[in-house]
Amino acid sequence: MNSAGSFLGGAKDRLLPASIPFRFFLSASLFHVLAWTVLFFAADEVARFRGGPGLTLAAIHLATLGVLAMTAIGASYQLLPVVTRRPLARDWPARLSFWLILPGVALMTYGMAESALTSMKTGAVLLGFGLAVFAVLTADNLRRAGSFPVVSAHGWLALVSLVAFVALGVLLIWDLESGFLNNHLSLAVVHMVLASFGFMGFLVLGLSLVLIPMFVLSRSLPDKPGWAQLSLTAMALAGHSCGILLGNMPLVWIALAAGLGAAGCYLWLMRKSLNSSMRKRLGLPFILIRASWGFLFLCLLLGGAVAGGADIPNAPVLTGFILLVGWLLTFLLGVLQRIMPFLASMHAAGKSGLPPLLSELTAEGPLKVHAICHFAALAACVGGLLLNLTLLLQIGAILGLIGAIAFAVFAVNVVLKLKRPK
Ligand code: HEM
Repeated sequence: MNSAGSFLGGAKDRLLPASIPFRFFLSASLFHVLAWTVLFFAADEVARFRGGPGLTLAAIHLATLGVLAMTAIGASYQLLPVVTRRPLARDWPARLSFWLILPGVALMTYGMAESALTSMKTGAVLLGFGLAVFAVLTADNLRRAGSFPVVSAHGWLALVSLVAFVALGVLLIWDLESGFLNNHLSLAVVHMVLASFGFMGFLVLGLSLVLIPMFVLSRSLPDKPGWAQLSLTAMALAGHSCGILLGNMPLVWIALAAGLGAAGCYLWLMRKSLNSSMRKRLGLPFILIRASWGFLFLCLLLGGAVAGGADIPNAPVLTGFILLVGWLLTFLLGVLQRIMPFLASMHAAGKSGLPPLLSELTAEGPLKVHAICHFAALAACVGGLLLNLTLLLQIGAILGLIGAIAFAVFAVNVVLKLKRPK
């Protein structure tokens, strides 16, 4: 594999107008605030959530589509052309996808909160079109990719997972109206796993292969373990989906073992990168990123406990919470607080000729408040689910909300600094 950071060579030519990635990052920061707010009002029903419309489903999709997918799409639009050394074919489809996805998330989550099928359906159709534009633009970029085949392969499997989970999601909405499916709950679980471990998982595992070495200034990572994590993740997803839909538990266990194997390869690669890091102080972002790696393992072990019927209170919801908030949200917020100042400094350099220091673009105070509140919120919500205490869940949601507001202050500050470089 090429040396870490070498892919940045010539990156300036493939720099998108700042407004494209930053509109996704700012929207993600706003939906982050909304997700914790709705979780507060859903606190008395979360622990017993077993699917179906309501505030919990709305909070899940404000967090997953509103924060995780928005961030991943904004980052992919800018990072993939840098990694593949091929600029995006056109900029306008990226803007169009935003103006379809933003109202799509707002309408679908409003419909989920109010059990309003028309809003849910309209939102899902807008989302379907917006995500289709993203998929076509990204597939075109991956098709012309000139380097990092292992990262591109993760990108392709993320797109396959995207098509599958969106199709299932839309099907589930129509089934809420007419009840034509006889395995709604199993399809909902497959939808959730393909969306979180598939689409988000492949993007996180693939982009980490270039992002983490770039952030820590380490030597580049070997290819083989990268291909191993990709194949094991694909096996785990295919095995889990078939196992759940066919009711075949041995297949689910094999899938879990493959998933643990994939996570093992990933963490071995990340540890290798950290061990050869030339940057000694990695700071707050890596406290979140490292913690998220621990949560990845924990949610797989919890998934095993759920499959084994272990007597853990509210285990399915707890596993979903550790997966979506513990692993994915914590990882993406850690990466965002490195990417936003980094990208802003490249754009600001273009404007003033001199790149401002990342520290000048980073409001440390709000990020410290966010980190403390985020982990306190995680602990309180996990405690609330284990002890079935609505009050603890409400306290967790308030802490998460305070943290999300602090993170939004950091994000807006980067954009304001970008607009007015010194
Ligand atoms: C266009 C995009 C999406 C649509 C139309 C959609 C639709 C749905 C619907 C209708 C359900 C409820 C199923 C039920 O009755 O329980 C659901 C559940 C769920 N979705 Fe999505 N979703 C989308 C995107 C996502 C994404 C991106 C994620 C995660 C990264 C996600 C995670 C979940 C989870 C965790 C559940 C709960 C599963 C359960 O009910 O057990 N969804 N989704």
